[in-house]
Amino acid sequence: MIIERFEDEDALSAALATFVLESIVKNPALVLGLPTGRTPLGLYRELRERSGGNRIDWSEVRTFNLDEFAGLDPSHAGSYRSYMQAELFEHIAIPDSRIGFLNGAAQDLAEECRRYDDAIEQAGGIDLQLLGIGANGHIGFNEPASGLCAQSHVAELERATREANADRFGGDWTAVPERALSMGMATILHARAIVLIATGSEKAAAVKGLVEGMITTALPASLLQVHPRVTIMVDPGAAGLLSD
Ligand code: PGA
Repeated sequence: MIIERFEDEDALSAALATFVLESIVKNPALVLGLPTGRTPLGLYRELRERSGGNRIDWSEVRTFNLDEFAGLDPSHAGSYRSYMQAELFEHIAIPDSRIGFLNGAAQDLAEECRRYDDAIEQAGGIDLQLLGIGANGHIGFNEPASGLCAQSHVAELERATREANADRFGGDWTAVPERALSMGMATILHARAIVLIATGSEKAAAVKGLVEGMITTALPASLLQVHPRVTIMVDPGAAGLLSD
């Protein structure tokens, strides 16, 4: 695991944007796994600012987002699809057909999960998976549990996770859906390279467990320790509990 420390969130976001854009220049057909949440907002700001005027050719890139709320239409203001449209997709020239997303409004959620895993497999798997981390150590919506799902699945959300998403639902955590669809651990761990970003002291304990703790399903991010190409990018707050 490579740990990269940055002086602040802006420096981290700029460095990750550079890495993503260089990866696209090297491999125009990059298959990119994307997170949502507060942490990647700076990354998406950098990507849209630096992709403008056809400076970066996104036309062959494929994206697969990690997760989506169950029961929400993709056009719902609280959906992660809406977040991605507003933060990135509307600002770059990527064809809609190359955007992969779990559809939380699908009639049959189990079938939707199978469709998503098949689509990722047909794309040749994920080249570069970007991840955030929950304060509870979740990645995607793979929440701490005695067992974790390998494949895409329907996940029950912890109250803390719903609270962390309340701002997309008028500040009311009870309005946040109780369930979500998420990529599973195997799909994430099969990515050829993984970059996890964490900022703020509320992530410090999870980051310490991820980097220095035992591998445990009680901290899903700790499973990244088995992957050969993982980079963890942190600001001083998130790095606060790491040994030097
Ligand atoms: P955050 O979420 O970036 O909003 O803190 C990260 C996550 O839960 O994966």
